Amino acid sequence: MSTDTRAAAPEVRISGIDPHWWRQAAVYQIYPRSFADADGNGIGDLQGIITRVPYLAQLGIDAVWLSPFYPSALADGGYDVDDYRDVDPKIGTLEEFDQMVAALHAEGIRVVVDIVPNHSSDRHEWFRQALAAEPGSPERERYIFRDGTGPEGAEPPTDWTSIFGGPAWTRVPDGQWYLHLFAPEQPDFNWANPEVRADFLKTLRFWSDRGVDGFRIDVAHALTKDLTDPLPSEAELDAIPRDAGQHPIWDRDEVHEIYAEWRRVFDSYDPPRTAVAEAWVERHRRPRYASAEGLGQAFEFDLLTQEFDAAAFKDVVVDSLSLAAESGSSSTWVLSNHDVVRHATRYGLPPLPETVGTTEQDRKQGAAWVLAGAPEDQLDREKGERRARAATLFELALPGSAYLYQGEELGLHEVGDIPDEARQDPTFFRSPGVDKGRDGCRVPLPWSSTGLTFGFGSSSAHLPQPQWFADYAVEAQERVDGSTLEMYRAALHLRRELQTDETLEWIETGRDDVLAFRRPGGWVTVTNFGEDDAALPSGEVLLASSPLVGGRLPGATTVWLRESQS
Ligand code: NOJ
Repeated sequence: MSTDTRAAAPEVRISGIDPHWWRQAAVYQIYPRSFADADGNGIGDLQGIITRVPYLAQLGIDAVWLSPFYPSALADGGYDVDDYRDVDPKIGTLEEFDQMVAALHAEGIRVVVDIVPNHSSDRHEWFRQALAAEPGSPERERYIFRDGTGPEGAEPPTDWTSIFGGPAWTRVPDGQWYLHLFAPEQPDFNWANPEVRADFLKTLRFWSDRGVDGFRIDVAHALTKDLTDPLPSEAELDAIPRDAGQHPIWDRDEVHEIYAEWRRVFDSYDPPRTAVAEAWVERHRRPRYASAEGLGQAFEFDLLTQEFDAAAFKDVVVDSLSLAAESGSSSTWVLSNHDVVRHATRYGLPPLPETVGTTEQDRKQGAAWVLAGAPEDQLDREKGERRARAATLFELALPGSAYLYQGEELGLHEVGDIPDEARQDPTFFRSPGVDKGRDGCRVPLPWSSTGLTFGFGSSSAHLPQPQWFADYAVEAQERVDGSTLEMYRAALHLRRELQTDETLEWIETGRDDVLAFRRPGGWVTVTNFGEDDAALPSGEVLLASSPLVGGRLPGATTVWLRESQS
């Protein structure tokens, strides 16, 4: 592992220390490998981010969240971490990380990094030591090793399936098996081991000392596990309720002891470091993760699992705001991220055919559309983009923080036709080949309309970019009236001016397919989820996701207004 180079860390130059900056922040997710490639090796890097800081500043975001940039063989796009306290040499160096933080802070942009505590990679020093050591050794106790079942222990300890498909146990040469909820290259840590706990505290301090402002916690609900023998079968495991804090794997009550310890670390900094949990838990269990004694915020994924539908959106907003109030946190809103089909595409596809047999969760996330190959011939691009812009303006007007995913500001669609030989996502390999995986939302960004990689890097891009990227490039949209990029810029800047406290008041519209709400100061948002145009309340139009027609609000459009004072 790298040595602590804390002394080299630059001074934090962000102006104004507001401990609540995160409550209503617009956070832009950078998937570093696909953002901008300065050294031309086909993989995005930290220098690439540095060169694009002016773009990020102009966009009007408050923070960036960087998906993992740590040393990794990229078995799961970097969520297989070899060393938690270093930068992948393919992406940069710790010194460049410091430069990047300084450059972002100089523009008032905070930095959130991803922490992956459920599993390391199989190349992590500790896992190598575990393999070299005996069964029952302290080295193996950092992970979850078990003897197999059946003659000579040749069968795995249980029949559990990993999240990415295939068995959740892999056998090592001496015959033992280790648990991996995800890919075999991602062995699960044993969080009952104090060494594991201590090491993550060290990692949190390492990045906090380097000026990082917050953390996104991967699979936050799976760290603590009850793996007392006899272990249940998969069918038995599935039958255990997940909403009572006692499931052997998911969302156990005692996971919060870990976060209480982390909170003490976060609060030892000024301003306190923030954290947001990626925890796919039952809705009523979310506030525990978001509490002030815990991580402080938890992702709200319910909006991204909805169709473009007024009633569905309103239900989620009402529910999420009440859950946020319960925890004392603010709500978070997400329409796209690196794990789901981009929202411009989701909203442009016909309803999923019942014949696509996937789990309910997959269907909701749109992952099922990836399974079906995100069928380009069934995609209505214009409809998807129009709805996506409307949904985005709706989202950005809500109280709470909004998490945006790189490329959504360009209205980018999922890339549905990546050749099999170019695919990287482990879900593709472990299904095998049936589930197309998440590569389609991870294709390197188009910065210019021409050139080998549309301005991403000099010669190649690690995933192939389609020709239609030319029309979506930053270059094609900058200063173009009505472009998606200019809409995002305008919305993000206006939002800063308009946002006050975290309250919202619904306005009766007389239509089931039109939602309207008011924020303090007379900021009114109206979204028409239907097809027939709708009347607008009186006021000054500040921004619209599509042009108004004859002073009325057309279908699939959101408008922001400043209410007339009467
Ligand atoms: C959630 C991350 O968002 C996803 O990309 C990753 O594959 C899994 N956690 C495993 O780390």
